[in-house]
Amino acid sequence: MRYLVTGAAGFVGSHLAEALRAAGHDVSGVDCFTDYYDVAEKERNAAGLDVRRLDLAEAPLGLDGVDGIFHLAGRPGVRSFGGVFPDYVHDNLLATQRVFEQAAAAGVRVVFASSSSVYGEAEAYPTPEDALPLPVSPYGLTKLACEHLARVYGRASGLDAVVLRYFTVYGPRQRPDMFFRRVCARLLDGGTFELYGSGEQSRSFTYVGDAVAATVAAMERAAPGTVYNVGGGEEASVLEAIGLLERLSGRRLELRRLEAARGDVERTKADDSRIAAELGWTPTTSLEEGLAAMWSWASGTVADA
Ligand SMILES: NC(=O)c1ccc[n+]([C@@H]2O[C@H](COP(=O)([O-])OP(=O)(O)OC[C@H]3O[C@@H](n4cnc5c(N)ncnc54)[C@H](O)[C@@H]3O)[C@@H](O)[C@H]2O)c1
Repeated sequence: MRYLVTGAAGFVGSHLAEALRAAGHDVSGVDCFTDYYDVAEKERNAAGLDVRRLDLAEAPLGLDGVDGIFHLAGRPGVRSFGGVFPDYVHDNLLATQRVFEQAAAAGVRVVFASSSSVYGEAEAYPTPEDALPLPVSPYGLTKLACEHLARVYGRASGLDAVVLRYFTVYGPRQRPDMFFRRVCARLLDGGTFELYGSGEQSRSFTYVGDAVAATVAAMERAAPGTVYNVGGGEEASVLEAIGLLERLSGRRLELRRLEAARGDVERTKADDSRIAAELGWTPTTSLEEGLAAMWSWASGTVADA
């Protein structure tokens, strides 16, 4: 098949593009290499992939001969209050509207990377897809708006879109602003780790290889209009995860405790039963295995993060 991956120079998008290529598909990527984090890192992610530099909110995609779009491009991160909000609107809402418009016109399926952030402090744990979404960050709000755009374009223009709500993806090449990546960096340089909140906050951590497998399954087998949680299965608190990384690295982490950050939630816990039943996907990588892979990558390549 011929697939287009947006955000192909990013963390998850680069893994997805590589996996699709390894499975024998014809893959092209699109990314505008935003400076949300070090562009040199994105260039390393994209090395060996065919990635066109294009801002999805500004320029047309070109969908001739494309069988499916994996739309992973976006501006991530829950610390999205204040002056950065227009960037979230541009990279999430506007870019996604352009992608959906073109995909609907060309009759091409889109798998869209949404987020567990749409739930906010969820009304139930584990959280099923039909829980009321009530985001607590501007980022989560833009992702929820994109989900609604998928539904609106489905209804009005026959867009075939599948929505995936990723729960905290981690592994080699994780973004430098993300929790495990910052822990690895401080374990390596001996610096003090700034821990927001009590450390008792917990997450459904999802290994990137598992997230990629769910994403491919969604393209291949999901019914149009479906929404799926993609969560790692195992839930761990931030302090438990730090303990695991300390054990794997044989190092101790110096902690400085700070107030909980705005936009962060206390808990995420995915109910994965829908995707398990309908697509046969379950996560297969334990947190310990995944963190071991992440640590060996980080200790080999992360200089400063
Ligand atoms: N990593 C996670 O834990 C996680 C969790 C939930 C949802 N998501 C979503 O999954 C997707 C991938 O996340 P990631 O962690 O790989 O992020 P990432 O920042 O590493 O990758 C996103 C890529 O999109 C590109 N991009 C942004 N705006 C663009 C635009 N207007 N035009 C073209 N390219 C643009 C960026 O340059 C970047 O390379 C994002 O949409 C994110 O919101 C990620």
